[in-house]
Amino acid sequence: MIDPNAYYTSGLGVRTYDPVYGTGAISGDLEFYLGCAQRYGGPILEMAAGTGRLTIPLAEAGFDVTGLDISAAMLDMAKAKLANRPEIANRIEWHEADMRSFALNRDFALAIVPARSLHHVIAPEDQRAVLQCLRRHLKPGGHLIIHLFDPDFDRLVAEKPPAPTVREAGEAPNIHTIRRTTLSCRCDFLRQTMTEVMLLELLDPRGQVIAQEETSWTLRWIPQQEMAYLLELCGFKVRALYSDFKQSPPAYGRDQVWVAQAC
Ligand SMILES: C[S@@+](CC[C@H](N)C(=O)[O-])C[C@H]1O[C@@H](n2cnc3c(N)ncnc32)[C@H](O)[C@@H]1O
Repeated sequence: MIDPNAYYTSGLGVRTYDPVYGTGAISGDLEFYLGCAQRYGGPILEMAAGTGRLTIPLAEAGFDVTGLDISAAMLDMAKAKLANRPEIANRIEWHEADMRSFALNRDFALAIVPARSLHHVIAPEDQRAVLQCLRRHLKPGGHLIIHLFDPDFDRLVAEKPPAPTVREAGEAPNIHTIRRTTLSCRCDFLRQTMTEVMLLELLDPRGQVIAQEETSWTLRWIPQQEMAYLLELCGFKVRALYSDFKQSPPAYGRDQVWVAQAC
């Protein structure tokens, strides 16, 4: 069986994460989370914090943030960014842990599960365990924001790989190109999972491939009605659902941005 999280333990998946995801790949999410932090206050708990793409700017904005992730390699990338910034590092606690079963012995005013990370938990009972754990770590009335993709069944049935993602990283004259190509995309409609096998390539400024690696992930999709019931089952009241970070109304096949409150 394919490791559902191989992408985040492999060398190139981790090394290329920031150029692939840090260049506006998720339009407007940071601004949205900063707005929520202003409105709901801290401390903030970020599930699947990864390389600190959001954790660090939230701390820079003055909030105490706890970033939890299962991948030591992703967390090492995050910590390295703060090696010379003790004033920001002091506002962040990193935890290498599984979001399905963590115990931090403190509670938070706001918890976020950004970048469609809950899909990496591929059993329904485990997705429920994540929400139950989050609920236990929220103050009464605390808020939870979860970002998911909304399954587009035409695309899933077609099992059609997305167009390759190409990003640039580095500083002139050593700008490298990172290319991520989906080699296959297989769905299991009984389990609501999609497994993507990808080729990651690093090209030098002359276009020569200098490193490459095959990797994969498995994602479990969650339709809107299922998510609404799951939140209710785990002790949350849904306050809003948007289809993007501009707060557009819910829509089919786009994103799901849930704002819920512990009740
Ligand atoms: C798409 S990245 C999101 C990183 C970061 N939050 C961001 O917005 O850029 C998904 C992250 O989920 C983490 N992850 C996957 N399964 C996990 C689990 N069971 N518990 C904790 N983290 C997990 C991976 O290691 C990876 O860093």
